[in-house]
Amino acid sequence: MNADDQKRAAGEAAAAFVEAGMTVGLGTGSTAAWFVKALAARKLDIVAVSTSLATAELAASLGIRLKELGEAKAIDLTVDGADEIGPALSLIKGGGAALLREKLVWEASKRCVVIADAAKRVPVLGKFPLPIEVVAFGHETTMLRICDALTECDLGVAPRLRMKDGAPVRTDGGNVIYDAACGRIEEPALLAAVLKSVTGVVDHGLFLDLADLALVGTADGVVSVEP
Ligand code: A5P
Repeated sequence: MNADDQKRAAGEAAAAFVEAGMTVGLGTGSTAAWFVKALAARKLDIVAVSTSLATAELAASLGIRLKELGEAKAIDLTVDGADEIGPALSLIKGGGAALLREKLVWEASKRCVVIADAAKRVPVLGKFPLPIEVVAFGHETTMLRICDALTECDLGVAPRLRMKDGAPVRTDGGNVIYDAACGRIEEPALLAAVLKSVTGVVDHGLFLDLADLALVGTADGVVSVEP
């Protein structure tokens, strides 16, 4: 199985966890899109909350009924992809610039299942550059304080402003993203706390103690991993 087949298998396996009557959180990215398609094919009576405008558009086109997060209040199950899956199901997310809405939906969920291809599993987080969502106003100044925060965690890296077509990428909430190529994140909880303390940082892509289960597509089929 190639990576896309593995993503598809993981997405389809996750769709089997959904039951009629549930409120379901829909993740963002290519793996989550496979889940959304498999979920729509089951034609269950469910309501969904999306983590991005892109996923909302896909879900609506497939006939999935959507609610805003504030209307739904509690979510039974959220299924979403990841950029890296590390020890104890610690994650890096945000490669698709949806990390803030993803984290809001994950934190409102009773159960979170991460789906991925096998290449996403790593012994230590950090090879994938850590996305940091920053308020657009004065973001260059905030970046300097992010550098100080990274230095405090022994990570002497310069975050790069994410660009597309010559302009900074804007998230669904209108913020910008800096990507910090940390290399090895030895103390993710410390880094998460230090980054959150910087004014202007809205959130970061470290998802710690949030995933309850991982479904990972491999050459031999889908493997379940618990924290
Ligand atoms: C979106 O912001 C991300 O958190 C995605 O879930 C992550 O980038 C995984 O994307 P793929 O499923 O496309 O690899």
